[in-house]
Amino acid sequence: MKATEIYISETPSTNALLKSYIQDKKLKDFTVLYTDHQTQGRGQMGSSWSSAKGKNIACSVYKEFNGISISDQFIISMLVSLALIDVLEELKVPKLKVKWPNDLYSSNKKIAGVLIETTMSGTKLSSAVIGIGLNLNQKEFEGLPHASSVLNLTGKLIDRSHVVQLIIKKLASRFKMIPVGFQQIKAEYESHLYRKDKVSLFKGEQIGTVNGIIKGINEKGQLLIDIDQQGVLKFNLKEVELLSSN
Ligand code: BTN
Repeated sequence: MKATEIYISETPSTNALLKSYIQDKKLKDFTVLYTDHQTQGRGQMGSSWSSAKGKNIACSVYKEFNGISISDQFIISMLVSLALIDVLEELKVPKLKVKWPNDLYSSNKKIAGVLIETTMSGTKLSSAVIGIGLNLNQKEFEGLPHASSVLNLTGKLIDRSHVVQLIIKKLASRFKMIPVGFQQIKAEYESHLYRKDKVSLFKGEQIGTVNGIIKGINEKGQLLIDIDQQGVLKFNLKEVELLSSN
């Protein structure tokens, strides 16, 4: 599949720029916008995303949907995570996991993050801008002890435009799974879930700092954690932080 590619040498955020294009012009499904340098890259929950100039992937993909209910939208998040696992497997990155909801890890190092911004029409999801930051050829991550890159994990420098193409290919193939439904996609997603069924330390307003075990996710995409002496509780993003792993 050949996607429409838009390259820009520098922009504050590819997600923000692609969203502005949606308003201005009719974009084709799978249009991908990528840049060498994001000056105000955005992460999840209002955080920022910084990335060395010219070394990594910072791209946003425009995707149209029809017929997905808003209540099922975590399907998109899971399929994007699975597509990135596919990409990173093809690049021979070892020990891949998805840290809920969609951070890509190799062992205990983060190598990619995802920011999905959706547009609704009534009770349905009509489109999404899928922002992907993937650390490819960067070596040093000052002040980020838990960050790494494909280069650091495989020893190989990789052509960025090849990876952008690979991302589109894997996203297109994963989105074909939408009709198989939530349960089957969830089962595959959970099989890659970071720290699943292992004792880990969590912190949250509701729970304080406690040990718990990730059990999976529910149909809303909430994280299910079996907390010491409290049973299985469900959490939205921001309500819980995974502190460390034993
Ligand atoms: C996270 O881990 O918090 C998500 C990071 C997402 C970063 C990507 S880079 C391309 C796109 N444009 C942005 O401003 N953010 C996403």
